Amino acid sequence: MSTATVAKNDHKEAQDFMPINGTDYLELYVSNSKQAAHYYKTAFGFKSLAYKGLETGSREYESYVLEQDKIRLVLTSPLRSGTDVGRHIDKHGDGVKVTALWVDDATYAYEEAMKRGAKSYMEPRTDKDEDGKVVTSGIYSYGEVVHIFVERKDYNGTFLPGYQKWECDYQPTSTGLKFVDHMVGNVEEGRMNYWVDFYANVMGFKQIMSFDDKDISTDFTALMSKVMSNGNGRIKFPINEPAPGMKKSQVDEYLEFYEGEGVQHIAVATDDIVKTVSDLKSRGVEFLNIPTTYYDVLTERVGEIDEDIESLRKLGILVDRDDEGYLLQIFTKTVQARPTMFFEIIQRKGATSFGKGNFKALFEAIEREQELRGTL
Ligand code: FE2
Repeated sequence: MSTATVAKNDHKEAQDFMPINGTDYLELYVSNSKQAAHYYKTAFGFKSLAYKGLETGSREYESYVLEQDKIRLVLTSPLRSGTDVGRHIDKHGDGVKVTALWVDDATYAYEEAMKRGAKSYMEPRTDKDEDGKVVTSGIYSYGEVVHIFVERKDYNGTFLPGYQKWECDYQPTSTGLKFVDHMVGNVEEGRMNYWVDFYANVMGFKQIMSFDDKDISTDFTALMSKVMSNGNGRIKFPINEPAPGMKKSQVDEYLEFYEGEGVQHIAVATDDIVKTVSDLKSRGVEFLNIPTTYYDVLTERVGEIDEDIESLRKLGILVDRDDEGYLLQIFTKTVQARPTMFFEIIQRKGATSFGKGNFKALFEAIEREQELRGTL
């Protein structure tokens, strides 16, 4: 285990000029929204919430909105050629386009961000239907990812104006996924600090952690990461960049196949990771395999924990401890054709960190996958 330092709060305090209540939704541009919706429902336990498409007067795009507890996923595909969404999918494959942030005042959030140097994606606009009104605005982040500010205090509808409730008899049971814990971005080598400054200066976030290539390296590959958080801690964005190593790192592989910067993984929280992961596995979700030797020294490394080590070993769940408690986590294999985005399932028992003690085992597992793909 590396002993390199974890710096805390060295990018000043959060400036809470932009209060954010939480993640409003994540929108993925995908090549087949209808089938992707079925996958996320069946495999991950999401339910149908809302729909937009030809039947609602949307001639260009079709969007399916899914929900599980506080998580909302929007899956969007084009209905014809030559669209912005189609171009995005042609370049990047399936991936996250929008991280929507729930705010009290989307006009104010936009103006504050623009004043501080953000690049505009969408000026504030008001959309109305019989259920009320929603104000949205948007700015660019790394790559082609955007943040849309959503102000929905005057809205009582299902999702957003323009969508209709998606009535569906097929509603799989939840797998216990509760909310988005953090969302990680991969950026080009040498660009991590630029985006750290962006989140600090433009959005008032603070840096809560930093990992260098000594923390995050195997015999072959390395990366660096800094974690940015908003004032109330509900939004956490770790930002990775590749570091020079003997072979191609997972971040390099991502950047190559995504053809640019983008969202690497979405971490979703559960209150019972053993139950959630057993359920996900039985539904066909694939996870990275961790050598069972990891568990031989687990208690030595993290001390006593509530969970049965044998269950963790069977499922491949990882454990790490920090000053405040411990956490359990596991990572899926990538979930689309290209080896780009994946999910993390996380259960926090006091710990506020990100599993630094697992980085080595995790990255070696990723390298075994890269090896099979011939991209290491
Ligand atoms: Fe993570």
